[in-house]
Amino acid sequence: MIADNPFVIKGYAGKKYFCDREKETEQLLKHMLGGGDVVLISPRRYGKSGLVYHTMAELKRTRPDFETLYIDISATSTLNNFIDALSSAIINSFPEKSSLGKQFIGFLKGIRPYFTLNQYSSKPEIHLEFSHEEQKRSTLRQIFEILESHSSPIMVAIDEFQQITEYPEKNVEALLRSHIQNMHNTRFVFCGSKRRMMSSMFNDAARPFYASSSTLYLDKLDRTLYGEFIRRHFEDNGRNVQEDALDYIMDWTRLHTYYTQRVCNELYFDGTRNIDMPAVLKVCRNILETERFNYLLLKEILPVQQWRFLKGVAQEGSVSQITSSSFISKYSIGSTTTAVRAAESLEQKELILKHFETNGVSYEVYDVFFSRWLEAEF
Ligand SMILES: Nc1ncnc2c1ncn2[C@@H]1O[C@H](COP(=O)(O)OP(=O)(O)O)[C@@H](O)[C@H]1O
Ligand SMILES: [Mg+2]
Repeated sequence: MIADNPFVIKGYAGKKYFCDREKETEQLLKHMLGGGDVVLISPRRYGKSGLVYHTMAELKRTRPDFETLYIDISATSTLNNFIDALSSAIINSFPEKSSLGKQFIGFLKGIRPYFTLNQYSSKPEIHLEFSHEEQKRSTLRQIFEILESHSSPIMVAIDEFQQITEYPEKNVEALLRSHIQNMHNTRFVFCGSKRRMMSSMFNDAARPFYASSSTLYLDKLDRTLYGEFIRRHFEDNGRNVQEDALDYIMDWTRLHTYYTQRVCNELYFDGTRNIDMPAVLKVCRNILETERFNYLLLKEILPVQQWRFLKGVAQEGSVSQITSSSFISKYSIGSTTTAVRAAESLEQKELILKHFETNGVSYEVYDVFFSRWLEAEF
């Protein structure tokens, strides 16, 4: 596949446009081939979904006997939605003529779904209605049975898995776990960006998924490799990248994959032949300008103490001592209690990212562009 822009900011466009992740891909493949389940955790926009697409592509290339199924459950809020998302993924991944496709369609006919078309992808979506809870549960069981009885192994990735903790139905975790633990032909990757939720789901001895899977924490891309990747794609297009400009891109975006990709994508798009500091600065300014309205809206919504806290973190870049008197007084946050509460609330809203490091924790503004905007404004 040839992409219009080598810096992909949505989905996956093939190996050529995917930087590194060789070790992680290998690890995931090893677990999938060996039959184990994996939990894949990282902050949003580091590249979990990308890694899953890439691994699936590699698996299909090297082991054509394997099938793959990707389900994003970020938009689901009930077990019913989950079953719909799973069913939709199956009909969109397995052709009608394939044995699994045929079997699944036969099964669906018996439960009379209705179909809609996704307004973005134009792909069919399935909706099922259940007259009682038991029927819902038995449908889920039957869908898993169809997958498990397939003649070849299936790698199933469930993206934004922590979403299941929000479902109102009782014991969803235990229900899913009870099916999944008996599945061997079907291997799972559970992706999630809410570290605390994912960790407690898989590492807390009282929870159903405890110790059921190997955990893989995805870090940022390697700076040297990413730098080479960026340079190569510009040079392949006859463009030149100045060293200081490349460094600036990686610093300014903190090597947070989506943000680095986005800056490169826009630089590529704007056609500048010689990528120097002024060219990069112009693109960065433009991005902040297009986002400005959203940021101002947030300012309207957030309590003033939280806004000050965010600004403080943005100005510092990264803060490890949020209750230190210098941080609190410098940004007029009030008291240590206010700081702790602001941090909790902002973390909940995913406006602040808490990093866990060997020597403690540190806080950053989650969205890198927002952080850069907060840093520059006023
Ligand atoms: N290894 C990579 N090389 C190049 N681009 C990547 C890579 N991994 C992810 N991306 C891009 O970065 C963005 C964020 O990645 P994504 O997989 O959606 O993150 P996550 O699932 O962790 O939120 C996407 O636009 C994706 O195309
Ligand atoms: Mg994702």
